[in-house]
Amino acid sequence: MSALSELYEEIALCRQCEIAKYRTKVVPGEGAEDADIMFIGEAPGWHEDQQGRPFVGPAGLYLDELLASINLGREQVYIANVIKCRPPTNRDPLPSEIHNCRKWLDRQIELIRPRMIVTLGRYSMAMFFSGKSISKIHGTAQKRDNVIYYAMYHPAAALHQQRLRQVIGADMLKIPSLLAGSEAVPAAEQQPQQLIMFED
Ligand code: URA
Repeated sequence: MSALSELYEEIALCRQCEIAKYRTKVVPGEGAEDADIMFIGEAPGWHEDQQGRPFVGPAGLYLDELLASINLGREQVYIANVIKCRPPTNRDPLPSEIHNCRKWLDRQIELIRPRMIVTLGRYSMAMFFSGKSISKIHGTAQKRDNVIYYAMYHPAAALHQQRLRQVIGADMLKIPSLLAGSEAVPAAEQQPQQLIMFED
């Protein structure tokens, strides 16, 4: 069994948060174990909770389209979320849930060792970009310990706000050149904190 599959088994046993009681399936994440790019969303929604897979509902279909726009299939990247259980009624994740689940995300990052981490939405961004606002830093990257961190709006935002579709599409198209090193990426100013509050 691979280290990642073993980790999924550990995650499936986690009952640290109250919301674990209400989940149908835990949603650890999925994708290539040697992926160069790791996308990190917020939390499973109804579809993800039913299937135990990340981004398989409407936002996921849009993410698939965005990936196709840079000639990638979801099996070539790794997709995870900040928290692994669906918050009831799709409410925002609580700080305690983000804190409790952080260890699983950290272990996924350690195992996959992606060259680029793409944060999807505010909650994921807040873990890696200290105190920033998504409306200001979407489409920008920072490098830390040889990993490129790149902030994007959450794909679901484009489903609710049509004007963001173009912005998200354009931000996605920057990924290949960032990864190829043909675009300079500034070094991060400071280390991320364990749990960071955000503006916006
Ligand atoms: N939104 C997310 O943030 N993650 C999912 O897996 C699905 C929708």
